Amino acid sequence: MIVLSLSEFRNLAGKIASLLEAEHVVFEYKLFPDGESYIRLPVEKVNVEGQDVVLVQSLYPQQDKRLVELFFMLDLVKRLGVSRVIVVAPYLAYSRQDKEFRPGENISVLTVLKILEKLGTDIFLTVDIHKEDVLKEVSMKALNVHIHEEVASFLRGKVLPSETVILGPDKGALGRAKSVASLLGCEYDYLEKSRDRITGEIAVKPKELNVADRNVVIVDDIISTGGTIALAAKSVKELGAKRVIAICTHGLFVRNAVGRMISSGVDEIVTSDSILTPYTKISVAKPVAQTIKQL
Ligand code: R5P
Repeated sequence: MIVLSLSEFRNLAGKIASLLEAEHVVFEYKLFPDGESYIRLPVEKVNVEGQDVVLVQSLYPQQDKRLVELFFMLDLVKRLGVSRVIVVAPYLAYSRQDKEFRPGENISVLTVLKILEKLGTDIFLTVDIHKEDVLKEVSMKALNVHIHEEVASFLRGKVLPSETVILGPDKGALGRAKSVASLLGCEYDYLEKSRDRITGEIAVKPKELNVADRNVVIVDDIISTGGTIALAAKSVKELGAKRVIAICTHGLFVRNAVGRMISSGVDEIVTSDSILTPYTKISVAKPVAQTIKQL
């Protein structure tokens, strides 16, 4: 087995390779003056023919550029006669456009998956996808890797379970909160939205639990603009929460997301290395490698 990646993903791909006891090779990459991407496998250093190959490429902004790079790498290794290709895209771009919310919309994540399938992906792996169901819509083997154990390990020793609530910022995040909480042995809940009939203002509050004088750990798949976390943090702080830790798998942090969250009461931000950020404190390498080993 050989792990291949661009230099940008050297750290994560290197970690995955070492856990798989596999060689890690970096593609040559450059941009042409007009912005087109050039990719080359250093074939004088590595022969991929007949080998199982793991391609590691996270699809964060600029998503479209990252996608084209992945398509090129995939098509190239297939042409070089590899045995199986396992595509590891820890952050799957367009994962939130997973249905036709309004008539006439494209289901963009499905387009991405269909192209990857068409180009010959044998197994597709992503981490903490927004909604898992879309993976069933393609015929290639497509798996979602969870990082609940990594999140729980990070929190162990940092917070006391008896003083902590794990909170999903909406009902959709309840499963994630429950999984992390059960590993830690603490309580969990989700935030319920309500709208003031007079002012129209949206407020959120925990569905059942009291958060006063407790640590609140908000767990989400993605932080983009930080709006969801900011609203959640502000609300639980107003309800007396002691300390607010925001943990997400994929930290996109667009615009002033960090400032917005901090000014709303977030005390600590944590992300995984699916996208390297100044707040990366968790690695997806181990659960990804474990999933590959079990294939
Ligand atoms: C939404 O359903 C997702 O799980 C995240 O909560 C959302 O994408 C976060 O976006 P933002 O940081 O812009 O509020």
